[in-house]
Amino acid sequence: MSDIEIEKIDSILKALNSAIKGKKLYPVGHPAIAAPMTKAYQALSELFKTHAKIFVGIVKDVLVFEETPLMEAEKNLGELIYQIKQKEIEGIIFEKGLIQKEFLSFMDILSGEEIVKGVELQNMLASKNILHISIKSLSKRSILEVYNDAVNVVKETMSQIRMGKAPQSGEIIRVVDELTELVLADRNAMIGLTMIKNYDNYLFNHSVNVSILSVALAQSMNHDKASYRIVGIGGLLHDVGKTGVAEDIIRKPAGLSAHEWETVKQHPVLGSKIVERMEGMAELVGRIIYEHHIRYDHTGYPRTEMPLHPLSMIITVADAYDALTTLRVYQRSYHPVEAIKIMNSLSGRHFDPNTLKAFIAMIGFYPVGTVVRLSTNAIGVVTKVNPAKSTTPFVKIIFGEGGQQLDKPYEIDLSAEGGRASTIVASLDPLTKGLDIGQFFEKEAKDLVPLSA
Ligand SMILES: [Fe+2]
Ligand SMILES: [Fe+2]
Repeated sequence: MSDIEIEKIDSILKALNSAIKGKKLYPVGHPAIAAPMTKAYQALSELFKTHAKIFVGIVKDVLVFEETPLMEAEKNLGELIYQIKQKEIEGIIFEKGLIQKEFLSFMDILSGEEIVKGVELQNMLASKNILHISIKSLSKRSILEVYNDAVNVVKETMSQIRMGKAPQSGEIIRVVDELTELVLADRNAMIGLTMIKNYDNYLFNHSVNVSILSVALAQSMNHDKASYRIVGIGGLLHDVGKTGVAEDIIRKPAGLSAHEWETVKQHPVLGSKIVERMEGMAELVGRIIYEHHIRYDHTGYPRTEMPLHPLSMIITVADAYDALTTLRVYQRSYHPVEAIKIMNSLSGRHFDPNTLKAFIAMIGFYPVGTVVRLSTNAIGVVTKVNPAKSTTPFVKIIFGEGGQQLDKPYEIDLSAEGGRASTIVASLDPLTKGLDIGQFFEKEAKDLVPLSA
């Protein structure tokens, strides 16, 4: 970084600092605020001539530009540093294309008294149409960390129950709220994570996956916000009653005897009883756990004539999809595309047609995480669904046209060029290409953290 650049960034930061200070003393539109803002914006525009992105961060009280600490600059930047810390900002990324209006709205938020942090702050930027500024937040954990945290909470809860202890609700509610926040912020990345299939820990991962898929579905079916938490907890604990079934029966590779099957069929009832004993759990959580295997046509278990709650039907769909796409001791895993076909053939029988329809619309014909071969022979992973055109999603190319694995996978939008781009010819089993989809999304997840706005 050249001295001239440091000087420029220095003047930007000073101008920002004066503007924040000015806002406390003068009315909006006063030259004491407007002049430094214009100056800062002009200096940023200058830097965009040589930089596509400008990162200003804070590391242990010192401001950094790209990777250089601005030891000198920091002296007169009290107001700016205070605001950055209050809002738990780790870095601000300005992108080329930034217009003055976006910059001014951003400064309004940054200098505002209201303390907004993390995803809320990101959402605020998006809602004000600030597209060329993003925030890296201190308070935000990576989506993989939250996912693994949730797996551990399920594991811990189930082991407490097995030991006869009353499980704690607090941790479960915390982790479901965090998962929900991430589903709302980036649904595609979260659905991608559910494709991590950890075969040793089937029950724990399955529980987290069902929770994520259920919250995502409740959201896309426009249920109210209060139901996200209920369906999220319901998903996380739907199979908690399996703690009352002997482990060798749960893990048995071959067919179960009639008696063993009767034991397994107890798990929804046992689960709802466990949850009803937990403090602070909404009654509805117990009900949807009780109902998750009854099925739309009431041919499942437990046998009952009572009408199903809409949230139970959501859990049933999410549960079936995750179970079908996971390899288990007694079942091969189906590709997402096959799983959807199977589920569609059971629409109106196992599944409520409307809930299933909404699920398929949400995850698309080729769901996020599906490995596909294109007409060009290239192979990639679906990373985003085009809601209007479910057969032409975004695909990250991993193997080139000649079959070679790429050092730098790149993303293409199959709906571009009016569909004249390459098309999907088949979906593949990730294992045949030696691909660990989980690992791929782990990388994806890391990429997504600072960039999701
Ligand atoms: Fe179940
Ligand atoms: Fe299940």
